[in-house]
Amino acid sequence: MVSSSVVENYVSCCSLASRVFAVVVMVVLLLSSASQAQLSSDTFYAKTCPKALSTIRTTIRTAIARERRMAASLIRLHFHDCFVQGCDASVLLDNSTTVASEKFVLQNNNSVRGFEVIEQAKSAVEKLCPGVVSCADILAVAARDASEYVGGPSWTVKLGRRDSTNGSPSLANRDLPRFTDSLDSLISLFKTKDLSARDMVALSGSHTIGQARCVTFRDRIYNGSNIDAGFASTRRRNCPATDGDSNLAPLDLVTPNSFDNNYFKNLLQKKGLLESDQVLFSGDSTDNIVLEYSRNPSTFSSDFASAMVKMGDIEPLTGSAGIIRTVCNRVN
Ligand code: HEM
Ligand SMILES: *[C@@H]1O[C@H](CO)[C@@H](O)[C@H](O)[C@H]1NC(C)=O
Ligand SMILES: *[C@@H]1O[C@H](CO)[C@@H](O)[C@H](O)[C@H]1NC(C)=O
Ligand SMILES: *[C@@H]1O[C@H](CO)[C@@H](O)[C@H](O)[C@H]1NC(C)=O
Repeated sequence: MVSSSVVENYVSCCSLASRVFAVVVMVVLLLSSASQAQLSSDTFYAKTCPKALSTIRTTIRTAIARERRMAASLIRLHFHDCFVQGCDASVLLDNSTTVASEKFVLQNNNSVRGFEVIEQAKSAVEKLCPGVVSCADILAVAARDASEYVGGPSWTVKLGRRDSTNGSPSLANRDLPRFTDSLDSLISLFKTKDLSARDMVALSGSHTIGQARCVTFRDRIYNGSNIDAGFASTRRRNCPATDGDSNLAPLDLVTPNSFDNNYFKNLLQKKGLLESDQVLFSGDSTDNIVLEYSRNPSTFSSDFASAMVKMGDIEPLTGSAGIIRTVCNRVN
């Protein structure tokens, strides 16, 4: 109503050219507000829960101070949330009579972690302002706080996501990347989430921290090509050919607890741990991006931050869609 009367006012006053212009502008504005369920700025909880962000931050920092790897686990949790039916905290849901959990698909089973830290942040925030702050927003804020705490970039987190009432094991299985994926598959998978090849390479740079299980890199260290021989032999020591599936190794052998660009430098030396890491530098189309990030940490930092914002924008539930869960692992 308001919009159309504004258009009429314009139309009654001006030349044909400016009338047409005004109508075009209004149509573009209306379409852009209708077609994307848009997140709000970082002030979304300023009135309803002013201490939300500082409370989440305190919980996250305490958890990472206790266990440094938690920074990696929390960043990954946000990623595994956003890639499956959007950033809606579906990854956090347990099996129930109405919910099929995503936690048991191959890419998540015995692998994603950090749930208890998100629950701690949620319960702290729930005490201050019950029913206000979504689990999906907590995941997004936690990922940012985690990056910042271990020396990575920071960024402004858009807010206003709401939580799903279901999970989708089949979408999780379809949309979460696998360490066996080819470069072309990785590029096209990220493209389905509106993330470019450059975004994909930047986001993979979060493998500058955290750990992977033997089962995810065994084939590469025993049978891989395009791998440094000394590196492969070192990794075989704690990853037997037929045993020790869950033995861990750092994704970045140089500085596994700091967010820096060593991950990309390792790829230049064929010391990527996962096959899906090394394919980013394997004589193909993303080589130049890896080279650039290996030489220029500040470009990596700023690209990583913008890619995380883009990732946090994937198909959010906003407005009256979805719910605000009371606890993150089940629906109210
Ligand atoms: C490009 C496709 C990707 C593949 C194939 C992939 C695969 C993997 C695998 C197999 C692991 C080890 C899991 C385990 O041992 O159980 C891992 C760990 C990790 N991934 Fe990725 N990943 C990808 C992209 C990403 C992205 C986009 C992010 C974040 C933005 C990310 C963040 C992490 C982190 C931080 C860890 C370490 C987690 C921890 O120590 O708890 N990964 N990834
Ligand atoms: C949860 O449900 C899925 C099927 O939806 C099943 O594969 C899985 O084993 C269940 N996990 C547990 C712990 O009950
Ligand atoms: C998940 O891992 C457990 C072992 O912890 C295993 O028993 C179960 O079969 C796995 N689930 C799936 C769906 O692979
Ligand atoms: C390496 O490849 C050979 C031949 O395909 C296979 O028999 C063997 O199981 C592989 N070893 C590992 C540890 O993946």
